[in-house]
Amino acid sequence: MAKIKIDPERKVGELDRRVFGGFIEHLGRCIYGGVFDEGSPLSDERGFRRDVLEAAKGLRMPILRWPGGNFVSGYHWTDGIGPREERPRKTELAWFSEESNRFGTHEFIEYCRTLDVEPYICVNMGTGTMDEAQGWVEYCNGTGDTYWANLRRANGQEEPFNVKYWGLGNEMYGDWQIGALSAEEYVKKAREFAKVMRWTDPSIELIGCGLSGVTDWDRVVVEGLAPFVDYHSVHIYTGSDDHWSNVLAPHAADRALRTVRSMIERARYEQGIEHPIHVAYDEWNVWFRARTAETKLEERYNLSDALAVATYLNVFARHCETVKIANLAQMVNVIAPIFTNKEDLFLQTIYHPLKLCAEHMQEVVLDAHVVCEKHDLTVEESTWPHRVADMGPFDVLDVSATCDGSGRDLTLVVVNRDPDNSVQTTVQLTDAAFDGTVTVHEVTGDDPTATNDFGKERVDASERTVDAGGADFEHTFPACSVTVLRAGL
Ligand code: AHR
Repeated sequence: MAKIKIDPERKVGELDRRVFGGFIEHLGRCIYGGVFDEGSPLSDERGFRRDVLEAAKGLRMPILRWPGGNFVSGYHWTDGIGPREERPRKTELAWFSEESNRFGTHEFIEYCRTLDVEPYICVNMGTGTMDEAQGWVEYCNGTGDTYWANLRRANGQEEPFNVKYWGLGNEMYGDWQIGALSAEEYVKKAREFAKVMRWTDPSIELIGCGLSGVTDWDRVVVEGLAPFVDYHSVHIYTGSDDHWSNVLAPHAADRALRTVRSMIERARYEQGIEHPIHVAYDEWNVWFRARTAETKLEERYNLSDALAVATYLNVFARHCETVKIANLAQMVNVIAPIFTNKEDLFLQTIYHPLKLCAEHMQEVVLDAHVVCEKHDLTVEESTWPHRVADMGPFDVLDVSATCDGSGRDLTLVVVNRDPDNSVQTTVQLTDAAFDGTVTVHEVTGDDPTATNDFGKERVDASERTVDAGGADFEHTFPACSVTVLRAGL
């Protein structure tokens, strides 16, 4: 019998809802054909796919990152403003395609307002200049009688867009990136971008470009940008056809968050920096099948991937003091929970844990103590893309516990990573009792490789209530499942 022990007084910290953020990039069918499909009977008069908007609303994203990703390093934002017919069609070198520029800054902001999310814009530090980045901030947020603010007004937007979050380039370390730099070069350039952007609007928050949180790049960038930024970004994608490797690889995020937290703490201490610096984990997901531009990154997800995604969210909850923003990459069609064709859409397996966690995880994270079977990975099983074998053995049950401010409403997210065995568990409360019923939301299936498709949603979420009283509650977590338990105390 496994045990999950919860003491509602053992608080870890506050969960920032921005960890349920999203990301859309000009890549494959994410924007064009996903978010924005002009002329489609499924789109509204603005060209926004209504069905995608509806599905996206279910994910309750508080923040949306745009326009890339690799795309941004060749993107000139001025190409995407003004009358659509006059916008230039350009060669796009990040993903070897053509960019019509029909979706630009105004369309993005309009989309954010429709979805009720905060816009997060990443600037071009590849082919883009400091001047362009400064102008973009002024175009979006300027209130003066200046060229850029007046151009925004001339383009139909009187009031400033007030974009708060600005990323200083994307993955500037990678040779796949247009204009890649060494860490030292990046720091030198990013400091200057940061200065002019912040001088233009002191209220903005800046995100420095990190790698996977554990590298020398991260160390140099954290140290070099600490006086200038509010967040250090981390990108980690994981995935494997081997179920255990797949569901345990997200623990790479545990290591990344621990490590980068120490780097930040040291830099702040050494440099006497008073403002807080947190992690913006602004790209994460399972991604290993559709890696090339030809695939348009149209990854199809299975049940095992849904467990990996839930594990990521549990990791973010447990590290709530470090990670304040996280953006699932991406929102539609491209490595995404929502998948469209011209007539329809379906929800991928990963949609369900994302929705359940966004709906039920609460503001206060509690320290859940778990006693259960463990699983070890061999080094061979965890070589790519992120090594985690040394962090094992891993609990078969991955658990996060959150509650509301009063401590009377409890949510447990329990991922049973065992593909073959259910786990009988006692949930034991300290100095508290269940008040009668527990709502059980469950995502499971008969096979870790089960996938969804148009008209065939094999992996879905179910809901039921069960009786619960006293300090103990017994529950059996099915093999290969994500369970969200919501209980009044
Ligand atoms: O999300 C897909 C790509 O992954 C992004 O464009 C890039 O930032 C990362 O390498």
